[in-house]
Amino acid sequence: MLRRLLRRLSPSPPNPSPPPLPADWRGFDRDTLHHFDAPELPLQPHGMAVPSYALRTEAGTGDLAMFLGIGEAWAQMVARFLPDEPVVLDLGCGCGKLARFLHLNPRLRYVGVDIFLPGILWCRRAFAGSADRFRFEHFDGYSATYNPDGRIAVTDYSLPAADASVDVVVCSSLFTHLLEADAIHYLGEIARVLKPGGQAFISVHNAVAPGERWRGDEERIDLDEDYFLELCAMSGLIAEEPIGEVYGQVVHRLRNSVASRGR
Ligand SMILES: C[S@@+](CC[C@H](N)C(=O)[O-])C[C@H]1O[C@@H](n2cnc3c(N)ncnc32)[C@H](O)[C@@H]1O
Repeated sequence: MLRRLLRRLSPSPPNPSPPPLPADWRGFDRDTLHHFDAPELPLQPHGMAVPSYALRTEAGTGDLAMFLGIGEAWAQMVARFLPDEPVVLDLGCGCGKLARFLHLNPRLRYVGVDIFLPGILWCRRAFAGSADRFRFEHFDGYSATYNPDGRIAVTDYSLPAADASVDVVVCSSLFTHLLEADAIHYLGEIARVLKPGGQAFISVHNAVAPGERWRGDEERIDLDEDYFLELCAMSGLIAEEPIGEVYGQVVHRLRNSVASRGR
């Protein structure tokens, strides 16, 4: 009786927190997903799987509410600007934070690209039922943070899309991790694959001191926004709208101004 009363008075235990990751969890075997196979949410009928805490952590935040909130916020923002049968390229797609929401549009075709192999392998498996319209490409590019064994320089990589074939390129929290030379190369590639008038959504961090243009390493890059928009313009990507801050990053909407590249 007393025990029952005490139990009623004591607060219920908090939800169990995700199991701690081993200190060397980034040193996983890159051909296996087993470190990443511990989802908290079971797969629901006709639902899209939710990636594990470890995968989400590598893509910016392990927190489930943040993962879902950021994905939804980006999907709502991008969806407003999509044409009828859109082709979307998600550069630095991580473990499908945005793809899970874009997938709800049955007319949308999507290619996700990332240098982090476990995220790509997970997405291929999770989206296997829609492989005809959702494609995930791994690129073994070098990044001290995200792919330290990568064998290809980012500046040597061509995006896996034909010239002028994509309506919208999304870079959600990618340029917040790119060295300047890699960013410049990607801007050129984004302009190449976008259709004339196609759009890019790019988020950045902008905490630089006066006179500073690019600061940090691949853990976190901050840049001067005026300089960044100049680089965009040099690639033919013209600033259409400073959308504002989305979950702590400033998002820019840019339009491909190149009418025809003579190809
Ligand atoms: C902070 S995460 C964001 C992932 C995803 N866009 C999202 O919002 O969940 C940054 C992602 O960029 C990827 N990345 C970093 N450098 C890259 C590069 N040079 N090319 C392609 N992807 C890269 C990382 O592997 C990681 O998945």
